[in-house]
Formats: sequence, C-alpha cells, structure tokens
Amino acid sequence: MWDTIDNLKKQLDNFQPQTVADVEALRVGILGKKGSLTRLFEAFKDVDPAEKKELGKQLNLLKNKVQETVDRHRERLAATAAQNISGDDLTKPAGLIHTGSRHPIAIVQREILDIFRKMGFSVEEGPEIEDDWHVFSALNFAPDHPARDMQDTFFINTDSDNPVLLRTHTSSVQVRTMEKQKPPIRVVCPGRVFRNEAISARAHCIFHQVEGLYIDEKVSFADLKQSILLFVREMFGASAKIRLRPSYFPFTEPSAEVDVNCNICGGAGCNICKNTGWLEIMGAGMVDPNVLKASGIDPEKFSGFAFGMGVERIAMLKWQVRDLRLYFENDVRFLEQFQGGLL
Ligand code: DAH
Repeated sequence: MWDTIDNLKKQLDNFQPQTVADVEALRVGILGKKGSLTRLFEAFKDVDPAEKKELGKQLNLLKNKVQETVDRHRERLAATAAQNISGDDLTKPAGLIHTGSRHPIAIVQREILDIFRKMGFSVEEGPEIEDDWHVFSALNFAPDHPARDMQDTFFINTDSDNPVLLRTHTSSVQVRTMEKQKPPIRVVCPGRVFRNEAISARAHCIFHQVEGLYIDEKVSFADLKQSILLFVREMFGASAKIRLRPSYFPFTEPSAEVDVNCNICGGAGCNICKNTGWLEIMGAGMVDPNVLKASGIDPEKFSGFAFGMGVERIAMLKWQVRDLRLYFENDVRFLEQFQGGLL
C-alpha cells in the first residue's frame, strides 16, 4: 500500500496535462469509482489497526493533494484558453485593416461621369464585342476607312458582311442609344475599348473612353464648347482653359480636337505638352446628319454634339503619371497611392 501511495504522489508531481480532458482523466483514474485511491480507501478497513492511524492520515493527505492538483491545472488551462480567444493583449490598439481602394482609372471615370450627371446627362453602356454597323458603318466610316483594317481593329468573325469585332471606341454606344431613344438625348457612355496597337508608355491595346452625346432641337456648337469648358473646369480647376482645333472624324461635321492648358508646366512648355503649353484631351464635333439618319433621327429637326475622351489620358494629366502601362500592371504599390474613396 505504501508503494502505491508513493507512486501516486510521483504521478501527481510529474503530471503535465495539455488539455482539460487530461486533467479529468487523471481525476477519474484516482478518485473515480474504480480509481486507485478509492480502492486504497476500500482496502483501508482490512489494514492492521496499528498501521491505521498513519495510513489514514496519508490517504487523506493524498486525497487533498489530488484535489489540489486537479484544481490547479484546471484553472491554468482555462486561463490560457481564454487568452487564446481574446488575443495576447486586450489593450493593444487594433491594426489597420486593408480594405483596398478603387482603381485610379475607376476613380477618374466616376469623376467624369459625376460631372456630366450634374449637367443632366445619364449613363449608357453597350457591349464590348460589337459589330461593324455600330462601330463603323452607322458612324459614317467609308467602306475603305483604315480603321476597318486588321492592323487597327481586332476582328472576331469576318464571315458576314457585318463582321463581329472588339469595339475600337465607345462611339458605338451613341448609335445604340439613338436606335432605342428619341431626342432629347443626353448620355455619357463609359467603357473599355480595344485597338491593335503596340504597347508603349503612351499607348495600350486596351483602354477606357467616355463618349458623350447630346441631341435635341437647335443644339449648337456653342453648346458643345460651353459643356466641355464646364467639364474641364470641374475636372482640372476653375482656371483651366480650353482650345479647339479643327479636325476630322467621319461621324462629326464640323469636328474639333480639344486641348486643355498644360497643368504640368503651367504653360511654360515641357516634354509632356511637347513645349506647346497645351494637351489634347478629346475629340468632339457636331453629329454628322448621316449619323442621325442611320439611326432613324431626322436631321432636319434635330442636331447634336458628341465628344469622346480617353480616361487614361485624363488620369495621366490629373496625377501626372508619365507611363500608361502602370495603370494596367496592378502593382499595389502604385494603386495604393490613389485614395479616391473606398470600394
Ligand atoms: N471616337 C473617337 C476616338 O475614339 C473619339 C471621338 C471624337 C468621339 C469625336 C466623338 C467625337 O464622339 O465627336 O478617337
């Protein structure tokens, strides 16, 4: 019996439970119905009366020791479990949560759309995979226009006389809008466009445009100029100036290219504005009567203006980013610098 008592003491001293279940197993093994100490107590009644006093004392001491060991380990394990749930230091300030931010192109696109929304334009979208009619023919492109060449446009299917292709500009959404809406029409059309171009700091085969279209009775070139001036002042600041240069697009007559004064050098001349003090930001013009006719709008009654701008171009000017490719690489070190609102 004395040996069993000694062994139990040793077992208690060396006990290193990992879980509460280990502690419970020990308790049952010693104090349970068939536990080793319970059995010693049962055997106690048959012990020699001379030994009883000392043995009884030892058994009681041992019982207390078991209880104390069990309690101590239970408490310790409960405390570590609580700590694991709540973290090491409950007073530590919370770390920054990275929620991500909008892509710079999305930020600028939103800004452009918001400005035109304030002027009463609504937003229209169209498909990226288009047909020749909406991208070229309805927009008065001649059958032999170079944009219809494989070198400029990604064709998907050229089997029919209305080939399927990736749209090269969002002007196609003008056509879709005119086909389904009656004037007055006032829309801005954002979206991705695709061109078969070599990728460089200034050009990419995928980019974004915002197209604008305003059709009503008696819309004039003065309306076009004033709308663009308002847009530019909202986008680049109240002191921004614009300059219109005569140009050519098949779908507008007259056509113009719109320049804004260079905010990088302030007009003194730099490599971005090629020392002219001006930067081209969009094409624009009065919608050609042929385009109105092609979409079922009477050019005798209605007139309109249209414009189209590259979102990357506007973003480059806004943030003075000199390489367009940065917008497509999605390097978070670049993207994190544009805090234009959370997702
Ligand atoms: N679609 C032209 C382009 O991609 C941009 C453009 C120019 C759109 C003049 C227009 C416009 O609506 O009137 O280069």
